Amino acid sequence: MVELRLPKNSRPTAGKTWPKPKDTSKLREFQIYRYDPDSGDNPRIDTYFVDTGDCGPMILDALLWIKNKVDPTLTLRRSCREGICGSCSMNINGLNTLACTHGMDESTGTIKVYPLPHMPVVKDLVPDLTNFYAQHRAIEPWLKTTSPTPDTEWKQSIEDRAKLDGLYECILCACCSTSCPSYWWNGEKYLGPAALLQAYRWLIDSRDETQDERLGDLEDPFKLYRCHTIMNCAKVCPKGLNPAKAIAEIKKMMVERRAA
Ligand code: SF4
Ligand code: SF4
Ligand code: FES
Repeated sequence: MVELRLPKNSRPTAGKTWPKPKDTSKLREFQIYRYDPDSGDNPRIDTYFVDTGDCGPMILDALLWIKNKVDPTLTLRRSCREGICGSCSMNINGLNTLACTHGMDESTGTIKVYPLPHMPVVKDLVPDLTNFYAQHRAIEPWLKTTSPTPDTEWKQSIEDRAKLDGLYECILCACCSTSCPSYWWNGEKYLGPAALLQAYRWLIDSRDETQDERLGDLEDPFKLYRCHTIMNCAKVCPKGLNPAKAIAEIKKMMVERRAA
């Protein structure tokens, strides 16, 4: 039987409990993952109490309230605070999602906040997405053509443009890929749902002239075929996209390509 051993410092220990704010009864408890790989210390779980009467309604509001009023060393990524940049993705009460669009009222009790799972941690809630971005680049997410460039734009019918709906909206938050068990175990070789959704977006773009080459690049035992249709990706996508369906469509295109 295979025995899986976690590195000694991968198990979080109980951390510090920060003081409760005074003069409020509107408290919400947060347990937050803290880790600085450079320190050599184990990760720990710190406990904070947020005055919900003094901050906005979203998890990101609470995290920034903690950072501004309690503990400036808490580290996280965010930019747009409205579900567009994809940078505040994290694991909230066991679900990968965006902190800026996830309300504190979507759960009761203590709110547990961890970084996206199965990724190296840069610090606290910030995962290292180097491999994730490299995989996105590997599918060449841009228009590739062989015909001479037209004088004006590459034209596309309204119907063909509509085929990209449900694909182009991806904000590369990585919630899907980091919730995919196949990606957890084969993340170096399996492209994962986010990159494959984008691969499909370019495969079916009517203006792209390299479909066969793109399919050929995916003909590999790992890049595409590690998807076992577990569907975690579609369940967590904060933009309501369905990477599993896109992957199934690519597999269908592969079968047709082989039969041709
Ligand atoms: S459907 Fe495929 S890509 Fe989505 S979570 Fe499952 S194995 Fe991963
Ligand atoms: S498909 Fe959804 S979950 Fe995956 S990276 Fe794009 S927006 Fe995020
Ligand atoms: S801060 Fe941009 S998606 Fe949350």
